[in-house]
Amino acid sequence: MNEKALCWLNGELMPAEQACIPVNDHGLLYGDGVFEGIRFYKRRAFRLQRHLQRLQMSARAIALAIPRSNEELTAVIERLIDAFADDDGYIRLMVTRGPGSLGLNPKGCSQPNVIVIADQLCMVDQASREQGARLIVSSVRRLPVDSLDPRIKSLNYLNHILAKIEANHAGVDEAVLLNAQGRVAEGTADNIFIVRNACLLTPPCSEGALEGITREMILALADAAGIKVRVQPLGVYDLYAADECFLTGTGAELIPVASIDCRSLPSCPGPVFQSLQLAFQRTIDQECGGE
Ligand SMILES: Cc1ncc(COP(=O)(O)O)c(C=O)c1O
Repeated sequence: MNEKALCWLNGELMPAEQACIPVNDHGLLYGDGVFEGIRFYKRRAFRLQRHLQRLQMSARAIALAIPRSNEELTAVIERLIDAFADDDGYIRLMVTRGPGSLGLNPKGCSQPNVIVIADQLCMVDQASREQGARLIVSSVRRLPVDSLDPRIKSLNYLNHILAKIEANHAGVDEAVLLNAQGRVAEGTADNIFIVRNACLLTPPCSEGALEGITREMILALADAAGIKVRVQPLGVYDLYAADECFLTGTGAELIPVASIDCRSLPSCPGPVFQSLQLAFQRTIDQECGGE
């Protein structure tokens, strides 16, 4: 972690390296908890209320009561952003099940930990951002939606981490996870879009994708720009045969894709990506720029 990283832990603000939680927290023992990643630009949190809404829904889905209201969390995040060294950065907001016995039963866990970190996050290097990321299709599958609903943003990311390890071993930037049926779900921490015949396509969340806040924004911006949009299941062939491909996420922002499994895409960064990138930046400037 960056030395300027800050942490707010259950009411106290401190350098992140000094923040500690008990080793019997079920967030650590079992990945039992939920989180959000939120960017701030010019010291303003981007789409904060939408992130807090998703956090609340994830928490409800796992029967976890967040001991702070959205108003309190908003005030905490604003305080952290004010205290942070840079104008732009990244907030990680986590709510864990809290300390309990070593068994996985959450019944005895009565004090969730609320952890908010302000830091920087760099998902890919600048060269990949400019020239396009290289992807592989991972052999690791996204969990079936009837096992764990992908809309729950939980602290359990092990299959995504295994996919990332596969990408590391292949010497590429990112991995695409398929669902149990072999159709495209998403990246390890990002949603995926393709462009074919000037039409923008992305899989529905029921295929195993997180309901990404950047994803929903890109769908709305494309629609507003008159770009044809279709949310439909996609196969690996669709990725290989795409005209353009890109990734979206709070951490990722927008990343153009140069190749998938060594198949170079004909256009990177492509014209649709470039126009959406501009619209994305304009939206950030409108919502976070100025006084
Ligand atoms: C698995 C996964 N998919 C997609 C995304 C992108 O979602 P958002 O745009 O809301 O950040 C994330 C973000 O962390 C993620 O973890």
